[in-house]
Amino acid sequence: MSLVLGIESSCDETAVALVDTGRVIRAERIASQIEEHAPYGGVVPEIAARAHAERIAPMLADVMNDAGASLADCDAIAATAGPGLIGGVMVGLVSAKALAMASDTPLLAINHLEGHALSPRLADPTLEFPYMLLLVSGGHCQILLVEGVGQYKRLATTIDDALGEAFDKSAKIMGLGYPGGPAVEKLALQGDPQVVPLPRPLKGSKEPHFSFAGLKSAVSRVHQSGDHSNADLAASFQQAAIDCLLDRLRKALSHHSAPALVVAGGVAANQAIRGALEALATQHNMRFCAPPLALCTDNAAMIAWAGCERLALGQFDALDFAARPRWPLDPQAQAARGAGVKA
Ligand SMILES: Nc1ncnc2c1ncn2[C@@H]1O[C@H](COP(=O)(O)OP(=O)(O)OP(=O)(O)O)[C@@H](O)[C@H]1O
Ligand SMILES: [Mg+2]
Repeated sequence: MSLVLGIESSCDETAVALVDTGRVIRAERIASQIEEHAPYGGVVPEIAARAHAERIAPMLADVMNDAGASLADCDAIAATAGPGLIGGVMVGLVSAKALAMASDTPLLAINHLEGHALSPRLADPTLEFPYMLLLVSGGHCQILLVEGVGQYKRLATTIDDALGEAFDKSAKIMGLGYPGGPAVEKLALQGDPQVVPLPRPLKGSKEPHFSFAGLKSAVSRVHQSGDHSNADLAASFQQAAIDCLLDRLRKALSHHSAPALVVAGGVAANQAIRGALEALATQHNMRFCAPPLALCTDNAAMIAWAGCERLALGQFDALDFAARPRWPLDPQAQAARGAGVKA
């Protein structure tokens, strides 16, 4: 049994976790920066980096104390090395390098998206490769065929906004505050998902990709018109997003197959989306797998777990590994038509 220390600092959560290769989270701590960023309606990179720098050392000490472990017990130190807000990523990565040096332990520079992609395997030991993954988070919306550790075939991506971004921006338009995803989901429970006519961008398109910018703009127009309640607008927005996800997944499943459909990333915390995906999986005779809510949004257990998977394969990184603001999971994937710089 090996023990991996994981550090996550790519966005607005400072997180540290100690996970073993037997899938036990020995200890973990997460410090959210929601209060610091709330006045700005979104994450401010400079504030995020400073907050990570203040918190990370005491949190590392707390996790070690909670687990009753010491650095000498760790078999590797894993940290998110990208993609993300570069100031924050550097705080976590440099901390991990210092710990790796001090303890003469290997460094594992983890792709944050790989953390999300493998997180379902931390929660479920029976989930084997390959699986079809819907990765839906604040910065990404992708369909991936996960064939093994480090083997990701990107089948679709967004040509504009990520779905979490669309949730957050729609919440901001409706004055629901930040972070928007959970607020939209809660309000949607009181609304009618059929009553507000909203577009389903790229639905039925020959291209495999997603688009959510037009949906967000439509939410803005409807809100300005004052014709509908926020509850109906939230419910209709969420339903439009679900229809887009199902349409694009059906398209992917018409070309590729896998025994399991898996969802990961912050938006995977949404119960309505989970329910719709589970029904889709049943229709396609696939197993459905979604990690527990705490493993969906950013956390360090998923980074430590990705470290465990890489440790088992002996895939270590050098101490001069550079932090990467952008780091596609599938470097071979062609840029999507209309895409800006999103991988
Ligand atoms: N219940 C929910 N319904 C919809 N969206 C949600 C829910 N809970 C969280 N989200 C969304 O998930 C996103 C945060 O997820 P996550 O922490 O994985 O993203 P990120 O780390 O910022 O982006 P990335 O992983 O792409 O770098 C936010 O956009 C948030 O609004
Ligand atoms: Mg994330």
